[in-house]
Amino acid sequence: MPQNLLALNWKMNKTPSQAISWAKELLAGLPQTSAELAIMAPAIDLQGLGWELKDSPVKLGAQDLSPHESGAYTGEISAAMLKDVGASYAVVGHSERRAYHAESSQIVAAKAASAIAGGLIPIICVGEALDVRERGEQVAFTLDQLRDSLSQVPVLGAGEIVIAYEPVWAIGTGKTATAQDASEMADAIRSALVGLYREYADGVRILYGGSVKPENIAELCAQPNINGALVGGASLDVASVVGMARAL
Ligand code: G3P
Repeated sequence: MPQNLLALNWKMNKTPSQAISWAKELLAGLPQTSAELAIMAPAIDLQGLGWELKDSPVKLGAQDLSPHESGAYTGEISAAMLKDVGASYAVVGHSERRAYHAESSQIVAAKAASAIAGGLIPIICVGEALDVRERGEQVAFTLDQLRDSLSQVPVLGAGEIVIAYEPVWAIGTGKTATAQDASEMADAIRSALVGLYREYADGVRILYGGSVKPENIAELCAQPNINGALVGGASLDVASVVGMARAL
């Protein structure tokens, strides 16, 4: 069973100075936990956080990256740049990127491949909207999204990818998926991964994301195929992060 990953997605919050203060507060009170902690920070925060976290067990990640290795792509950030400032992870295909930036699963697949080529572990986000779930099509939709988002990752090395199942209707709403619903989706994702990457599938960490907080993280991560959480709102508060880490 892979180690739980508690990934903290700050989204567009915390200026560089706020990020450093937050990291210092967390490191001063780092809890006993069996989980790996990782901060997915805004790109502008990464270099300072990289320095602050470099001798700590807390890992660093980006919230997006360019699908390109380098070149004339104004405003984009490459895997090599992220690796250089100490990032280990890169979130790709978050529903907010898919929605606000018209990111197709083909673009997500290219970003996942770019992350792996640059030595980063992509956290690949998939999940259905409420209308899809209301039609009972959540499994088919999410697995189609998963397979398309992995289409440029034909061969898998151990530990090269993380999958985050984030039902869109649970993100930022306070409406957390039930442990049963989350487990159904994680089981389906695991089965699909076995079909794609037989020998490495069991080592892929599947996270749940969508209104996770200290009160519900333990039950969610107790599910057989859920190996951690990708947390938005509750990641902004050190006390909540300590509570979630202690619960794992
Ligand atoms: O990437 C995690 C995020 O989408 C979940 O947000 O605020 O529902 O924890 P939140």
